[in-house]
Amino acid sequence: MRKKILITGASGFIGSFLAEEALLEGYVLYAGVREGSSRQYLMSQAIRFFPMDLSSEESLTRGFINFNQQEGGFDYIIHNAGITREAQSGDFYRVNDHYTRNLASAILSAGKLPEKFIFISSLAVKGPGDPVLFTPIRPSDPDQPVSTYARSKLAAEKYLQSLEGFPLVIVRPTAVYGPRDRDFLTFFRIIQKGIEPYTGWKKQMISLIYVKDLARLVFRIVERAPAGSVYLIGDQQAYRQEDIGAAIKKVLGRKALRIRLPLVPLRALIWCTDTLGSLFGHPPFLNREKFLEMTASNWLCHTGSLWQDMDMVPGYSLESGIRETADWYRQQGWLS
Ligand SMILES: NC(=O)c1ccc[n+]([C@@H]2O[C@H](COP(=O)([O-])OP(=O)(O)OC[C@H]3O[C@@H](n4cnc5c(N)ncnc54)[C@H](OP(=O)(O)O)[C@@H]3O)[C@@H](O)[C@H]2O)c1
Repeated sequence: MRKKILITGASGFIGSFLAEEALLEGYVLYAGVREGSSRQYLMSQAIRFFPMDLSSEESLTRGFINFNQQEGGFDYIIHNAGITREAQSGDFYRVNDHYTRNLASAILSAGKLPEKFIFISSLAVKGPGDPVLFTPIRPSDPDQPVSTYARSKLAAEKYLQSLEGFPLVIVRPTAVYGPRDRDFLTFFRIIQKGIEPYTGWKKQMISLIYVKDLARLVFRIVERAPAGSVYLIGDQQAYRQEDIGAAIKKVLGRKALRIRLPLVPLRALIWCTDTLGSLFGHPPFLNREKFLEMTASNWLCHTGSLWQDMDMVPGYSLESGIRETADWYRQQGWLS
């Protein structure tokens, strides 16, 4: 019998790739989306939709009770819905923490637990690693988040961990790139225009993961990881910011003028826009916390024996991932 899986936030960047992987792996896929969610990446006829209002524990509970009665419940749930940017102050805790609590409480009230509940958290909950020695962040290191985003994800993790008998697996991916992502797109576009910008002169090291590798790995985790596991996820390589720039320049076939924006005036500018933003209740695109995260020297993560345990290797190098991403951006007209 094919296993039934629910993926929340299936309309988004990572969620839509998780959804594609679920179909490839032969699951009966239920895409957890809200009423207004775009379905542009969820066009397969094989997808069933499970409308969800994560703000209402009551309506979620009703949805799960009906589903349990009619279909016997979900075998697996991947809770991927979340926000990485706030439109209004307070959104991070509301969506990432409170809605996760609503979801878990509804599942418990409806009376049928899945075999596993995978929570897509973030490496950000750990906070940056040692800026001098550049030792990769390890799963056993203390959680020292430096942003409200990261604290909201950590609060959700802690709540889920407090639920006795809840079949929780936490995955904490590093920065994810690939088609459909708009965060890295900005960097591609600037390089396309002939400028390769970096913040400051400090060495910066980062782990990355290509979205398709993440999706494949998450499904191995669904199948094999014991409940209670917590994983940091990266592709096992260490990148300098400049490596990413070089790969983009190579696949775009562009030369670009490398510029370094001095940190001090940039920090002052962001401090001003952040202060004005909080006065008017509209957080700016880049705030102090995001800037602190972005400019931290060490975002390397140590994935331990995860890939070996899951009997997998990453399928993409930085260059092949960037190439596929750039091709997709061009096909979509996101990049000229
Ligand atoms: N991107 C990264 O580098 C990265 C790294 C580590 C962890 N993560 C985590 O991965 C998850 C997915 O991130 P992403 O980059 O794929 O973001 P994304 O493209 O913005 O997708 C977010 C998904 O969450 C849903 N969502 C957002 N607010 C919601 C709300 N109020 N109610 C219901 N659904 C809501 C969105 O639904 P709509 O389409 O309806 O808006 C969308 O499907 C997040 O939990 C994020 O914290 C991301």
